[in-house]
Amino acid sequence: MANNTKGRRDFMGMALGGFTALGGIGALYAMKRTWDPLPSVKAAGFTTIDLSAAQPNVLNVEKWRGKPIFVLKKAKDMKTDPRDVVMGDDHFLVAIGLCTHLGCIPAYLGDEHKFKCACHGGEFDASGHQIFGPPPSPLEIPPFKIDGTKLVLGEEGPEYQKMKADGLTV
Ligand code: FES
Repeated sequence: MANNTKGRRDFMGMALGGFTALGGIGALYAMKRTWDPLPSVKAAGFTTIDLSAAQPNVLNVEKWRGKPIFVLKKAKDMKTDPRDVVMGDDHFLVAIGLCTHLGCIPAYLGDEHKFKCACHGGEFDASGHQIFGPPPSPLEIPPFKIDGTKLVLGEEGPEYQKMKADGLTV
């Protein structure tokens, strides 16, 4: 009897452990799917990202000077914005992926076309504007230069300079 109870408890423990492990793998897979990096090259404070492989409404997270950088190609049914990086017909959100409240990394909810910050519930739309909760300002736009289909982070090209002059980068 005692053995039976122990056996059942062991089985339950193993089953729960299995679920936890599966959950962990699922979460990692989901993270990988939503956080795909694009082909990129890093050199001396600059990160060059090739945007030609970007898929609509799939968030890519790059790294620039130790910060996560969100790169999101907008699908045709998504709202464009003066903060967009425009390449030909394509519009991209390019923003530092840190919540402007206290610096957590928001998650992208593709179905809702918005970012949600798990720390205090702040939300940003797909153009980086704060739309709910405590964030006081939009997601910041890092200095960038457009070079054909490539984006160079860390260099101020004319498109970035114009955005900055219009007060759109912060
Ligand atoms: S850090 Fe994002 S809502 Fe507080």
